[in-house]
This record gives sequence, structure tokens and C-alpha cells, in this order.
Amino acid sequence: MASGNELEIRPLTSSFGAEILGVDLASDVDDETLGRMKTAFGEYGVIFFRDQNLTPEQHVAFAERWAPINVNRFFRAVDGHPRIAEVRKEPDQKINIGGGWHTDHSYDVAPAMGSILLAREVPRSGGDTLFANMALAYESLSDGLQKTLEGMRAVHSSRHVFGNTAVTRTTGAKDDIAGRIGNPDAATQDVVHPVVIRHPDAGRKILYVNPGFTLHFEGWTRAESKPLLRYLYAQATVPERTIRFRWHEGSIAFWDNRSTWHYALNDYHGERRLMHRITLEGVPIHGPA
Ligand code: SIN
Repeated sequence: MASGNELEIRPLTSSFGAEILGVDLASDVDDETLGRMKTAFGEYGVIFFRDQNLTPEQHVAFAERWAPINVNRFFRAVDGHPRIAEVRKEPDQKINIGGGWHTDHSYDVAPAMGSILLAREVPRSGGDTLFANMALAYESLSDGLQKTLEGMRAVHSSRHVFGNTAVTRTTGAKDDIAGRIGNPDAATQDVVHPVVIRHPDAGRKILYVNPGFTLHFEGWTRAESKPLLRYLYAQATVPERTIRFRWHEGSIAFWDNRSTWHYALNDYHGERRLMHRITLEGVPIHGPA
């Protein structure tokens, strides 16, 4: 059994991202150790582990210690493991999954709490993942803009990414992505969320819009929304508010989908990258009031 005494939490920056050492997630992690990992998750937004060659069953068992599993309705599942999504790019494929800033499932009424991504096969170089801290992004804004945003809501959707009219279904990209992303008929609904949310556990204020799934501010056209969204996105991706994770086989990144964005870099053409992702159920999110 992994004991809390052996755990080391090594922050990547003063407030964002932490590597957790001294724990074998395949073993029966005790409650104290799990509690410390949960605290680090809340504090740092994304936690990383190395050399965790979990079986799919162990991956599922670890995930279930945190929250019920949310089965992604668009991703291909790992053979024999319907609750684990496959994030794959083959040597002859051009498009990668997650290759742009986004946070998973913001198009859902209760957006996913987090995602646990385990590297199965990685390219010799490239294929890193970037993360952005949306609490720091919010805190970087002026009082005036913070206040304005706190009174606003935004529309999020999966239709333009996974639906029948998505670029990946209507252009040459269709063949490239075939077999990896599917079920377009499930991408029907849009959802409205506050632009600033209070983190359901940590209590911090978070800027909750993202380039992947946010369409526009409620009551504003897309053209009207674009300049302000672009400004906010630029604040979120200032280098000091981002971190970059280099993968090895058996590495895990476990991120909070409410307080972070991520971006899978597509700079390893001609090589395979294969990851297994489990997404965890979240709770409805609310504005800061
Ligand atoms: C994702 O967007 O969930 C995948 C991230 C990655 O493959 O690094």
C-alpha cells in the first residue's frame, strides 16, 4: 500500500502544476495519500505522475477513487474498455485530437471535473501538452473587466467540433479522423455557462470560456464576441500562466477541466502517439455571487 509519508509534491511553478513522486498508482493507495493528492490537485490545477504503467483496470480503479467516470460520447473507446477514451494519432495521420486550446466537456450542462490522461506510446520527440491556468487568467484582468465579465454568460457547443457540420466531417480531414472521432448525431445541444465561475471545490474565481467550445457571449453576436474573446484568450496564454509537459510512456497528466485549458501539440508527424483518457463527472457550475 502506498503510504502518505513517501509522497513528494514538487510544484512546476509557484502556483500551477505539480509533479507527484513516491506513489505507485497501481497499488492500493491509502486514504491519506489520496487526500494529499486531492489537495495538490485543487491547489495546482494539474498533477503529473511518472512511470505509472497501469493496466486499463487499474486506470479505471484509480479514476473511480475521485469521481464517477463520464464516458465521452465522441471519442473511440479502447478495445474492451468502453469507459476509456483513446487519443490516437498514427504515423500516416495529419490531425491530432485536442490540437488547440480547450477544456474538455465545457459543452455539457455539468462540465467534466477532470481528465486522467495516461501515455501508452509516445513519439521520440514532440507531442508535448500545454496547460493554461484560468484562475491566473481571471486574476490578471482589471477590476472593471472582472466585474463586467461576472455579469455575463457564454454559449458553449460541441456541434462545430464533433457534429455533422464540423470541419472534420465536411472536408478532406474526414478520412484522416475517421475511426477516431464519431457519433456526430450526439452533438446537438448548446449550453450557457457564466463567463466567470467559482470553482466548486477550491472556491477561486475562474475565467470559464475557451477557444475550442465557446461560441459567443449570450445576447451578443459572434462578430461582437470575437474581439473580447480574443483578448481574454491572449491573457490566458501568456507564457507565465502556462506550463508544458513532456510525455514518456507511463506518464500521467490529471487536469482540472474547470480551472485549466490544455493543448496537445501536433509536431511529431510520421510517428504514433497513443494515450488513454478517462474523464470524470463534474457538478453544475455557477457564477461567483
Ligand atoms: C485531450 O485534449 O484531451 C488530449 C490531450 C493530449 O493528447 O495531450
